[in-house]
This record gives sequence, C-alpha cells and structure tokens, in this order.
Amino acid sequence: MYDITVIPGDGIGLEVMDATLHVLEALDIELNYIKAYAGNECFKHTGTTIPKETIELSRESDATLFGAVTTVPGQNSAIITLRKAMDLYVNIRPVKSREGVKSLFKDIDFVILRENTEGLYSGLEEYTKVGATALRVISKKSSHRICKFAFEYTKKSNRHKVTAIHKANILKKTDGLFKEIFYDVALHYPEIKAEDKYVDEAARLLITNPNEFDCIVTTNLFGDILSDEGAGLVGGLGLAPSANIGENHGLFEPVHGSAPTLAGMGMANPSAMILSTVMMLNYLKEFKVANKLEESLEAVLREGKIVTPDLGGKSKTRDMASEVKRKLNEKNDWK
Ligand code: NAI
Ligand code: MG
Repeated sequence: MYDITVIPGDGIGLEVMDATLHVLEALDIELNYIKAYAGNECFKHTGTTIPKETIELSRESDATLFGAVTTVPGQNSAIITLRKAMDLYVNIRPVKSREGVKSLFKDIDFVILRENTEGLYSGLEEYTKVGATALRVISKKSSHRICKFAFEYTKKSNRHKVTAIHKANILKKTDGLFKEIFYDVALHYPEIKAEDKYVDEAARLLITNPNEFDCIVTTNLFGDILSDEGAGLVGGLGLAPSANIGENHGLFEPVHGSAPTLAGMGMANPSAMILSTVMMLNYLKEFKVANKLEESLEAVLREGKIVTPDLGGKSKTRDMASEVKRKLNEKNDWK
C-alpha cells in the first residue's frame, strides 16, 4: 500500500487527473490517495497558491501526482514552490515517439534532465531604476548533483551519451561553471560519451536531427523551453510526462499546464498524466504494473480509434481513459 498525494490543480489538470485515477482502478496495486490543493482555485479560497498542508502531505507520502495549475500573477508558482520545498532537484522529461502518433521523425527516444531548483527560476527578481532584474543562480552543489544524476541515469537506462546544453559563450561565469562541473563529473564515467552544445544550436538540432540526442542535461529555463520543443516533436504536450525527483521524494506531472482554452470541454489528452503515473510506478519499483499501464496506453494510441482531438480523434478525455482501462482489464484476464 502506497500513500499518494494527489494535487489535481486547475483547468485540464482536474480532468486528466480524474481520468488517470479512473484508469488506475484497474491496476493490481493498492494506492491510498490523499487529496491536496494548489493553484488558482486554491488561491481564491485560501489566499495562497500552495498551502503549507499541501507541502507537508507531499513530504509525508510515498509519491505525489500533480495535474497542472494556472499561474496566478504576482503570486508564488505552486509547482516551483513544491519543487524547491522538497528539493526535487531533477526534472526528468522523456521525449519518445509512439506508434500511431504523428511524429516529425522516426524512432525519437531521448530524455531531458532539467535542473529544477535554481537558475533563472530562483525567484530573485526585482524592479530597478531602469526596469527590472532577475538573478540567475548556478551553484556548484546543484550543478554537480544534476550532472552526476545525468551520468548515473544514462548508465542505468543503457544509454550512451550525455549532452550538456548551455550558453557559456555569453553567460561565461554561470554557464561556464556549469560546463566545467559537467566535464569534471564526466571524468568518473569514461564509458559514457560526454559532449556539450550551445542552447541555440541545440534548439536547431532538435528540429533537424533529434536522433542525435540521447540524454540532455541542462539548466532550469533552457530545460523548460527545450522540453516543450521536444514534446512538439513527438505529438504534442498531451503526450509529454515528467518526474521531479530528489533524494527522498518524487512528484510526477505532465509537462503541460492548465490549458484554459481547453478546460471544461473534456477533450484534453490524458496520456501525459497517465505516462507520468507510469514514471511514478517505476519510481516506486512497481515495474510490472508500470509496464502494464504503459502497454495499455500504447495499444490505445496504436489503434488510434478512441483518442482525443489533438491526436486526430473525436473522443473525450474520459472515453480515452476508459479504453486504456479496458485494455488493462484484458491484460488482467490473461495474467
Ligand atoms: P499549456 O501547456 O497549458 O497549453 C499549451 C497548448 O498545449 C495549448 O494549446 C493547449 O491546448 C495544448 N495542450 C496542453 N495540454 C494538452 C493536453 N493534455 N491535451 C491536448 N492539448 C493540450 O500552456 P499555456 O497555455 O502556456 O499555460 C496555461 C496555464 O498553465 C498558465 O497559467 C501557465 O502559467 C500554466 N502552466 C502550468 C504548468 C504546471 O502546472 N506545471 C506548466 C505550464 C504552464
Ligand atoms: Mg514549461
């Protein structure tokens, strides 16, 4: 039995979470859900986008599922606060083409590891006489641990290359340090190829030659931008999952936001949330159930009949989820 904190959030976050919990009913694993609040609706009711209780519940549970939130202007971002509060220092964002889903290239399969606690998202912004300034914090500690994570992750997942993405030619001190630490860490992993690229060049390569990449490690803002680009390569944000991982905690969420223009229509693609849950089950070392869930979703995508409009279908979020659940139940009958 696992305690899972569930934070649906706002907009389509609520819809993809509801659909995913519906699918999870068919898994042979006991999950005890503890609901918690964050985001815009939460702010309207409580005056804060992320109450202390939500952070505590996340800390105390075995893992957290997060839908998506609408950012409230002038207020703390709920998700960034959670990442920092639990020191979830790496954001794993796989980019993978899936059979049945239109992809710009064949067989794309790489992963972006985004530093998740500092960089330009340190929250150190202020108005000045001439305008405004944001501080870009690159610490030795955070750079070292994310680079080490990247090489360990590459080794464990049978990948062979890590590419550090930066802008050290212009950001000489901050990204210069990140690059230097990357190559220091690489010395301990002679079996893994280590290379680096400027972020602008990497953005070009991602849409011309994405299969060049295997494992990417980068700073916070670059990782945020490049992972949306990666999602665009393999069918869109509706298919892009992520895992926020620290030493003691894991939080799993789609890459997408609350998509206000889609919200309330029941048409959001639940795949990113379901795939994030697959990542959670792997984190909990429930590999068998994780595989079953992923294979069931893949079967639905491959058939392409009961899928949401972003995938060329006409089905609703809940119907697509029910089809995944039906596939899971078929698997259960065969076990
Ligand atoms: P978004 O990711 O919500 O939507 C961007 C585009 O992708 C929209 O055209 C949307 O329709 C489409 N899309 C996203 N998810 C989809 C899904 N599951 N199925 C089908 N289509 C999907 O980004 P946007 O519009 O820039 O931001 C909306 C709000 O979400 C803002 O308040 C933003 O700050 C917030 N946000 C929150 C995040 C989080 O909670 N982790 C992450 C990104 C944005
Ligand atoms: Mg983003």
